Amino acid sequence: MDKLLIHGGARLDGETTVSGAKNAALPILCAALLSAEPVTLTNVPQLQDIATLLRLLGQMGVAVERDADRVTLDASKLDNPLAPYEMVKTMRASILVLGPLMARVGEARVSLPGGCAIGARPVDQHLKGLQAMGAKVAVEHGYIHATVAGGLRGARLFTDMVTVTGTENLMMAACLAKGETVIENAAREPEVVDLANCLVAMGARISGAGTDVIRIHGVERLHGAEHRIMPDRIETGTYLCAAAATGGSIRLTGTSTAYIDAVVDKLLDAGCDIDSERDAIRLTAPARLSAVSIRTAPYPAFPTDMQAQFMAINCVAEGTAVIRETIFENRFMHAVELQRLGAEIRIDGNTAVVTGVDRLEGASVMATDLRASAGLIIAGLVADGETLVDRIYHLDRGYEKLGEKLSQLGARVSRVR
Ligand code: UD1
Repeated sequence: MDKLLIHGGARLDGETTVSGAKNAALPILCAALLSAEPVTLTNVPQLQDIATLLRLLGQMGVAVERDADRVTLDASKLDNPLAPYEMVKTMRASILVLGPLMARVGEARVSLPGGCAIGARPVDQHLKGLQAMGAKVAVEHGYIHATVAGGLRGARLFTDMVTVTGTENLMMAACLAKGETVIENAAREPEVVDLANCLVAMGARISGAGTDVIRIHGVERLHGAEHRIMPDRIETGTYLCAAAATGGSIRLTGTSTAYIDAVVDKLLDAGCDIDSERDAIRLTAPARLSAVSIRTAPYPAFPTDMQAQFMAINCVAEGTAVIRETIFENRFMHAVELQRLGAEIRIDGNTAVVTGVDRLEGASVMATDLRASAGLIIAGLVADGETLVDRIYHLDRGYEKLGEKLSQLGARVSRVR
């Protein structure tokens, strides 16, 4: 199993390019199931999760052509609406095939995702919404089996909590339903908007994406389209944090500060200078950051996917920070690993109190999930000596060419077996 070896202490300095957003690409690839015409996507990141989803779509009968960041999907011969356990267990986002399959063929068999390292993560809201649209849903032998006779019907949907993939699944299902669907308490994440933009390009009638009430007027069919995936705001934030922690100065291209206001705000509070260009961001960090407290919440508030990275920068900042995680119940697994590097962190339920120390010391640490791994890498970049991060397959799921990009920025990192 690959590990990442980091020689800490190098100040990040240089330029790299941010890839397309994983969390926009995943639902948008699934949106191709809604049409019998080819959908072409560009700026698709080359990641493990994307490869898994393309394999899953291929098994369903979708013809997939891929050339670097360009992917064309042709779902005209879709004939096997099944997402098997072996795939769903490696990537929970596979649940995103459920809505499109119900809309297009009126049947889906999708494995229940089960738990994951960061919590229970049920999909009850996805199912409740589909049932309100007329679907019959049974859970048998660990599989969701959903069917609808005569097609989905538009409905007024209300989710009990803000759910990103839940909103995306229901929005896709509603595109081909009869009549109007209104999703209340919808997720406002930019990735939901990117998906809506692609669906509109395919002929869907959607308004309100980006607000908490989305209206979808069902149409007979969707046609083919070409769409460019938005930049990855979490990858953007992660490199900004890495530079900030090392007292560095970097420029990120292919991205912008749009959609990361909450993160930029906190980096400014920590003492960084940030210049926003049209398609680039420049960050210059002070020699030592000030501690910044954060509370995760749905967009536009501070993203849970940036929590681990901010815990890492607070480990070496001046002062004490309070970190509150309100989205996932078990998302502090990185804290004990950071403690192995010498961090001072106290956990009480969903709150972590981090007191900055003068220096961290390199050690072997274990990645537990995608974003936790990013936090460990940032800590390794500032720690004295060598840090060996085990289980970096988590990172391969969500960060394109991580080692290469960090090296471009002057970090001393290498992959070891
Ligand atoms: C998406 C993102 C993930 C991010 C998360 C929160 C993708 C592929 N993944 O995950 O990176 O961390 O949003 O911003 O876009 N919940 C239920 N029942 C449901 C659905 C959700 O109880 O049916 C709960 C979850 O357990 C969690 C909260 O709602 O506590 C939010 O989860 P949700 O927004 O659905 O996360 P994902 O869409 O899975």
